[in-house]
Amino acid sequence: MESLWRAGRAPIPSQPFTPGEEYDDVVVGAGLTGLTTALMLAESGRRVVVLEARDVGAVATGNTTGKISLLQGTRLSTIRRHHSEAVTRAYVDANRDGQDWLLDFCERARVAVQRHEAFSYAQTLDGVPAAEAEVKAATEAGLDVRLVRALDLPFPAVAAAALPDQAQVDAMELLAALAAAFERAGGVIHTESRVTGVSASPRVEVRTSHGPVYGSTVTLATGTPILDRGLYFSKVRGSRSYGLSFAFDSPPDLPSGMYLSVDSPTRTVRTAPRADGMQLVTGGNDHPTGRVESEQALVDDLVRWTLDAFPGARLTHTWSAQDYESHNLIPFVGRLPRGRGRVYMATGYAKWGFTNAIWAAMRIAMEIRGDGVTAAPPGSWHRVLGSRLTVPADLGRGLLEGVSVGAAAVRGWADAERDAVPVPRPAEGVGVVARSGLEPVGVSTVDGRTCGVSAVCTHLGGVVEWNDAERTWDCPLHASRFAADGTVLEGPATRPLRRLR
Ligand SMILES: Cc1cc2nc3c(=O)[nH]c(=O)nc-3n(C[C@H](O)[C@H](O)[C@H](O)COP(=O)(O)OP(=O)(O)OC[C@H]3O[C@@H](n4cnc5c(N)ncnc54)[C@H](O)[C@@H]3O)c2cc1C
Ligand code: FES
Repeated sequence: MESLWRAGRAPIPSQPFTPGEEYDDVVVGAGLTGLTTALMLAESGRRVVVLEARDVGAVATGNTTGKISLLQGTRLSTIRRHHSEAVTRAYVDANRDGQDWLLDFCERARVAVQRHEAFSYAQTLDGVPAAEAEVKAATEAGLDVRLVRALDLPFPAVAAAALPDQAQVDAMELLAALAAAFERAGGVIHTESRVTGVSASPRVEVRTSHGPVYGSTVTLATGTPILDRGLYFSKVRGSRSYGLSFAFDSPPDLPSGMYLSVDSPTRTVRTAPRADGMQLVTGGNDHPTGRVESEQALVDDLVRWTLDAFPGARLTHTWSAQDYESHNLIPFVGRLPRGRGRVYMATGYAKWGFTNAIWAAMRIAMEIRGDGVTAAPPGSWHRVLGSRLTVPADLGRGLLEGVSVGAAAVRGWADAERDAVPVPRPAEGVGVVARSGLEPVGVSTVDGRTCGVSAVCTHLGGVVEWNDAERTWDCPLHASRFAADGTVLEGPATRPLRRLR
């Protein structure tokens, strides 16, 4: 599976790795958070390196929908239900600053941006109260949102919250521009360099697959933090969803806005101008990573939904990605506990990283440079969102997720008991978990090659599940993902699944 944004693009170039190099700041991860943080630090004269396990944009950012919007589905009403008006307003203010910075960068770097109205729409009458609640929460937080009751769309939509003049981009064009600006500011990017460990004392040592690098600070811009200190892997939930793009032989009148449903199943719709004409991007069907029967069935369902709404659409790309939602609904941004004040992280954007990642980068860069945060006026987002909010709802949501994680852990080990190896060679694209002695093992066939791996996740021992759309092993506990041969793809795990002979 490959996203419209990544397809046909050469990887963004990287520089040769020399072990033992010293920097002011080490940034781990070359997605939107990592590159923006790195650019902000490099532009203030610091020597900065970005270490990326795969290639630039390989994980969430290159597989996103790329809307830069302050209207974010039901985000604001959901936050408002659990937090004060001040916190909701601070969230909007932070996202507005993030949006402004990013749009300004796009203008300076000549990254193409399309301006559209954003809609959080109800697919049925049952969804209308959610659209109304979003209007109320957004208005209270200072956004000029209106309720639309008549929508002329080719898919079911009965009402919507609408906010004009939001934006969308091609995520890889944006990352290429950020990488180029970072390198112009003196920054260094190393791809294919997985970080396997970090120590913060006596100075920051970042261990990678090619050797160590050193710095005064390290920022984990790795989606979910790869270090377990602070247990952030258990305070966020990995949620996957799907993207599809379609071309047309004779282009219809495509909807002009950016749409996200407020009710289930999730549907998202936008257009994407390409050199050979306008494409349609649809997506949705989100679910906790590793906890569905068949990912491919969800892709097929989205294809059917799109073809019903847009007959004549021709599928060009399908892709999938995950982002992390924090149990307290506000991203976690700042210093990681027990990091001697030198280890920073950002996570929990709940699929709204194109504004959240930017304020996260601003905040981390301010803290590292030692300017701003404590001098910011009381009530400003820098102060309000920086206080690591905890409300009773966090505990409830965390507890519920803990129960789901526990159930997934038990189910994984119990399911592995059903069959013992040797198992028949799986058909192409199929993976099965069986038991070898006391150990669950995963056997799969991909591109004609049958591979056996330990099915025990190297993070904290969950039993991985086969993802039949991506042909990967996905952990239902904290969303680590591995290729069929056990290679780490994403999530908190840093070590591969053990290969079986
Ligand atoms: C399907 C989908 C649609 C979305 N649509 C939107 C949208 O329309 N608008 C919006 O605002 N947001 C959207 N989002 C959210 C947004 O894409 C993400 O929040 C954002 O891209 C996250 O950026 P990031 O840099 O934090 O993470 P990533 O882009 O995942 O970058 C993290 C990087 O860290 C690297 N890494 C991880 N571990 C290591 C390690 N040990 N060593 C070295 N490198 C490592 C990874 O390889 C990766 O490249 C969407 C998300 C999804 C999943
Ligand atoms: S991701 Fe934590 S146990 Fe697998």
